[in-house]
Amino acid sequence: MEKVLVTGGTGFIGSHTVVELIQAGYDVEILDNLDNSKISVLDQISKITGVRPVFHQVDLLDFPKLSKVFSKGGYDSVIHFAGLKAVAESVEKPLKYYENNVSGTINLLKCMLNNEVSRLVFSSSATVYGANSSDSCSEKTPTGVGITNPYGKTKYMIEEILKDVCAANPDFSVTLLRYFNPIGAHPSGLIGEDPNGIPNNLMPIIMKVSRGEIPELSVYGNDYPTFDGTCIRDYIHVVDLAKGHLLALKKLRPGASVYNLGTGQGTSVLEMVEAFSRASGRRLPFRIVERRPGDLPVICADASKANAELGFKAELTIDDAMHDTLRYIAAY
Ligand code: WQD
Repeated sequence: MEKVLVTGGTGFIGSHTVVELIQAGYDVEILDNLDNSKISVLDQISKITGVRPVFHQVDLLDFPKLSKVFSKGGYDSVIHFAGLKAVAESVEKPLKYYENNVSGTINLLKCMLNNEVSRLVFSSSATVYGANSSDSCSEKTPTGVGITNPYGKTKYMIEEILKDVCAANPDFSVTLLRYFNPIGAHPSGLIGEDPNGIPNNLMPIIMKVSRGEIPELSVYGNDYPTFDGTCIRDYIHVVDLAKGHLLALKKLRPGASVYNLGTGQGTSVLEMVEAFSRASGRRLPFRIVERRPGDLPVICADASKANAELGFKAELTIDDAMHDTLRYIAAY
């Protein structure tokens, strides 16, 4: 049975991927510093799968503790989610993001190489396409140009580090998965997106409006060159995203491979508001306000390469994501 260490495994995408891994028969351990997630997620994973994964509360910046985990781990592969991901916060606190995301990943790579663990799936982001982001980003789209925030720059830097590690270590296998906009929750309603502090992303904010914690959603601009004036994004259900990680894990091969994980379909902000209102049966209060700096009108994935080479295809819809999110909200 392949043994996989999932860093950031109590987080949103990490926890859903852990569930899919366990249900597919993998031996899974989680490493997380609980900076942006809760240890109770382990109980929920156990309720869903019947397995409570071994958990290491370790910060990737704590090299001695991280080394100890690897020396005893006997891992065949790593799926690396652990990282800070709040775009706005990264602008205010760039060093926190460079240290945590980049230095943390360097520590992880050192431990992998020191313990002959040579297979890695990395949680990257569509933000690496920067100013080249467009209606349909393919993996050939240039990266690293015009990235508007330190968070996105950390993802780009880590991608470049991983490519160089592969060049220096011919047996090292890396797959970079570039996500677009993850949404939704597990159909059990037991795990979902529950960031600590004030969220940046659309869906966690819609969730807070729905719970009455925020009076209304501020829609950042309706004067974009799109059909309804609001920005269009490629929202992918987190369970589809998790399944994409298992496909990538299975297909790992020496060198660095890159895949977009998205649906290829765009949805506007107002369409998301409408879908949530439809699923909840009540109108979500919102107000159109000024644009948010750095937002691009349309960012969508061309996921044909993942489809062709990994057999990846997003199956779940925006409506599925809204219903699953509501079930998760109702549970808490
Ligand atoms: C989506 C749309 C906003 C909040 C970011 C990161 C990206 C990825 C996903 C990790 C935009 C609008 C939002 C609100 C709004 N994260 N919006 N009111 O900006 O596409 O991407 O998160 O990988 O790396 O860059 O996602 O959810 O912040 O915004 O109108 O209160 O919703 O303007 O059009 P984004 P988002």
